[in-house]
Amino acid sequence: MCGIVGYIGDKDACEVLVEGLKRLEYRGYDSAGVALLMDSRIKVLKTPGKVSKLEKMLGDSHSAKIGIGHTRWATHGEPNTVNAHPHTDCTGNIAIIHNGIIENYSALKTKLLSLGHTFKSQTDTEVLAHLIEEFYSRTKNLEMAVRLALKDVDGTFGLVVMSSNEPDILVAARRGSPLVIGLGESENLIASDASALIRHTRNVIYMHDNEIAVITRDNVSLKNLDDEAVERDAEHLTFDIEQIEKGGFAHFMLKEINEQPETVLNAFRGRLMDDEGISNMGGLRDVEDKVTNARRFVILACGTSWHAALVGKYILEQYAKIPVEVDYASEFRYRNPVLMDGDIVWAISQSGETLDTLAALREARVKGVPVYGIVNVVGSTIARETDAGVYIHAGPEIGVASTKAFTSQLAVLNLINLLVARKRKTMTAEQGREIVAEMHRLPEKIQQILDNTVQIEAIAEEFKESRNFLYLGRGVNFPVALEGALKLKEISYIHAEGYPAAEMKHGPIALIDENMPAVFIALRDSTYDKILSNIQEVRARKGNVIVIANEADGRLRDLAEHIIEIPETLEILSPILSVIPLQLLSYYMAVKRGCNVDQPRNLAKSVTVE
Ligand code: G6P
Repeated sequence: MCGIVGYIGDKDACEVLVEGLKRLEYRGYDSAGVALLMDSRIKVLKTPGKVSKLEKMLGDSHSAKIGIGHTRWATHGEPNTVNAHPHTDCTGNIAIIHNGIIENYSALKTKLLSLGHTFKSQTDTEVLAHLIEEFYSRTKNLEMAVRLALKDVDGTFGLVVMSSNEPDILVAARRGSPLVIGLGESENLIASDASALIRHTRNVIYMHDNEIAVITRDNVSLKNLDDEAVERDAEHLTFDIEQIEKGGFAHFMLKEINEQPETVLNAFRGRLMDDEGISNMGGLRDVEDKVTNARRFVILACGTSWHAALVGKYILEQYAKIPVEVDYASEFRYRNPVLMDGDIVWAISQSGETLDTLAALREARVKGVPVYGIVNVVGSTIARETDAGVYIHAGPEIGVASTKAFTSQLAVLNLINLLVARKRKTMTAEQGREIVAEMHRLPEKIQQILDNTVQIEAIAEEFKESRNFLYLGRGVNFPVALEGALKLKEISYIHAEGYPAAEMKHGPIALIDENMPAVFIALRDSTYDKILSNIQEVRARKGNVIVIANEADGRLRDLAEHIIEIPETLEILSPILSVIPLQLLSYYMAVKRGCNVDQPRNLAKSVTVE
């Protein structure tokens, strides 16, 4: 996945594509490529690294009038030239760029291999090129071939296809990954976001899911995947490029918070086996026995990823009945830790580049234990240096304060728990099915929270001048309290402490007075009654109480001034919901305090120093 641009018209296609790809650079990517139709043949140029590097390679490619370009953010297969898009079929006559994930790519690949197709890359996208080739050989019609190919595909796509056999059209299709068509004079464009085409036109048509478009120099025709015509009026864009890049949100952080229904879905995509009540992760397949028979897990991470690891400890110990130690990567490294036969070390990292985590996993490898990764950035150093692992597929995270990566890490830890607990028979199939069913419901529940931010904004307004905050939770939501406090510190520069709620009476309670807001996570779970007592302890000392709760009952209403309600879910999945109001609270506090939300002072997105 990442950036898509397609062009057909009177201008120099190469120039339009490169300029468009540069506009999409803000999304983050690791390689770039173009396919251009020149002298009736498709010429493909691609490279790891920056668009400027690609630009230097383009040399004499400036006669093309039709072409497609892509910046790739790796999901399947590491970032290198072969895996970069565009991908081509066996004949080299069909080229495709694609955002999204093809869930059944491995089954499709096996079938295509048996039909004699040869593959060059490790990507899921290349499967589409060969599938389209297969249907083209039967239909001799590119649009029909794309449509028929997509009927066989499970997963998401925003894609653009061109072929030297039909040199005057681009075929685009969408399910799940955005595409916008730009309507020009003697030219038309297509892109994954409008910032890539706005220099040429502000008249656009947004494609909807399950639609296919045939784009020529002078015409655009839109259909659904069942071949029925779709009518849609063009829109005129009035906003500026910066607004478009942030998807209409004021900051990348807010955009990323709002992406969570989709990113959590992406973490689960293709990995849930509803009937068996178990998960299935390609990256762990070869080591499944080792994982299931492990005597202990040691999880290493920093910052937000460390909080995700702590949630993992609660979940895995409860269900998979496996002892879990969670360590700050920086501490693990220097305390000569004891690792034993049967231990598995997991490294969790959004960037895959955090030096402390990397150094810690190297230390573990020296001690001879298997090291597996839970990483967002495909092909990153940690992903490369681990023996196996699971990608969280959250997409590029630009805001320095991590949000969507956290919930995706939690989603993957739950998948690992499901796999290990079911295989170890510490969880019944029925329990597994219940968890899987609830996992499917999470994106919608996240959306419910995101649709209701007015109250959170008002709370932020009321407390924006507070100098200290306490975040309290119990059980699986104790690490969420830590994460809520970290978010507030990071972006609004307000001192905040996260604490296990019961531990408060052993120290932090001394801080409580009318100037000390305390944020509780008090869901109706196994610790509910206990945490109500903790809330009472704060109230008795005149502290202001803000509670993240499921539908509040009378007891809670008497205790708290502010109750933010979130939908109910299973206890082990609840951190994926309970953290979202906390992300939003810190966001609105920071905005109201005039802080630089996306790039807070003194912090870096990826910390590659000790
Ligand atoms: C930095 C970032 C944090 C992040 C931590 C770990 O401190 O500012 O947001 O949680 O690094 O990063 P990682 O990429 O390893 O998850």
